[in-house]
Amino acid sequence: MFDQIEMAPPDAILGITEAFKSDPNPNKINLSVGVYKDENGVTPILESVRQAEAQVLAEQTTKAYLGIPGSPEYAQAVQQLMFGADHEVVASGRAVTAHSPGGTGALRVAGDFLNKNLAGRRIWLSKPTWPNHPAVFAAAGVETKTYPYFDAANNRLDLDAMLGALREIPAGDTVLLHGCCHNPTGIDPTEAQWEQIADTVYERGLLPLLDFAYQGFSDGIDADAVGLRALARPGAELIVCSSFSKNFGLYRDRVGALTMVTADADVAARVTSQLKRCIRTNYSNPPAHGGNIVTTILGSDSLSQLWRQEVDQMRDRINGMRRSLVETLAAKGVTRDFSFITNQRGMFSFSGLTPEQVDALRDRHSVYAVRSGRINVAGITPANIDRLCSAIADVL
Ligand code: LMR
Repeated sequence: MFDQIEMAPPDAILGITEAFKSDPNPNKINLSVGVYKDENGVTPILESVRQAEAQVLAEQTTKAYLGIPGSPEYAQAVQQLMFGADHEVVASGRAVTAHSPGGTGALRVAGDFLNKNLAGRRIWLSKPTWPNHPAVFAAAGVETKTYPYFDAANNRLDLDAMLGALREIPAGDTVLLHGCCHNPTGIDPTEAQWEQIADTVYERGLLPLLDFAYQGFSDGIDADAVGLRALARPGAELIVCSSFSKNFGLYRDRVGALTMVTADADVAARVTSQLKRCIRTNYSNPPAHGGNIVTTILGSDSLSQLWRQEVDQMRDRINGMRRSLVETLAAKGVTRDFSFITNQRGMFSFSGLTPEQVDALRDRHSVYAVRSGRINVAGITPANIDRLCSAIADVL
């Protein structure tokens, strides 16, 4: 049966880490997958997470199944974090939140929901986007299309092209927007631009789906919700796929959420019933542990405060490395202007390196990045930046 099966290509991002692991060079550098590392090159367990986890272990009384959408306390904590505790969306009960295994789990359930309940409508992705987006929606049977986003010549958002394309999309289609820290470009709309995007999306009768995986890594936990809050207009419908892999450092615990904001609580009940069918036939119900950690942190003033400080520290370290990267490249005699790197937000720098230059970095220097030229700035440390910049200077 299996003899006829062909080899699948490695994953565009996670496949690079597989190659990195088998590289014997002791000075190898992995700047591919979006995982935070501290100045020692370690992906730490946050102190707020350690404390909350100890509390969860001490207090939990059962390992019985959660309900299909997960715990209601988690759902409420997630909504309050995203929208703000007093937001009308939270108070009205018109939003439903299901705990998903990571942000990818949320995207897949959203795709299944769209395919089952709004069949024949397409989803529009920014060009470029996270390489797994088209694959996840294709796997769910949802056709994907693209809209322009990035002005490569000027390293900025091409808002005119984006809005022009959105105006051409047929009513009823879904538009995927990155909540903040656009992956891979690191270029986000301003608050005023978010309002223009929201105007256009709703004028056209489109359904926004926000992929919200980096809350806190651009300007701060609340500041990074500016796009979400621009879309959460009275009566407006939207989908949010959250990930807590990065901002809680809970990568392997797979903690995410799918939130469907509907017109009213009555619609929300029907949407919930359909979501439950999608989840039941996929992973049945979510893993509790990571969600319990998030709920415990967000439910405690002192742990929340500690957690927010830790997110600020991660963001500050990345931004410091952005500045060092630009300065060290210049010090190595690189004449190309890389100053745009300090304006990009989140973990990634869309460096402008070509696929061939990325290949040369790997082959000649054991430096691993995504072939689109995306570099994980959070993987740069004081110990590897000199070697990294010499390598980049060499391949340029
Ligand atoms: C990334 O883009 O590197 C992250 O979102 C991790 C992943 O799953 O690809």
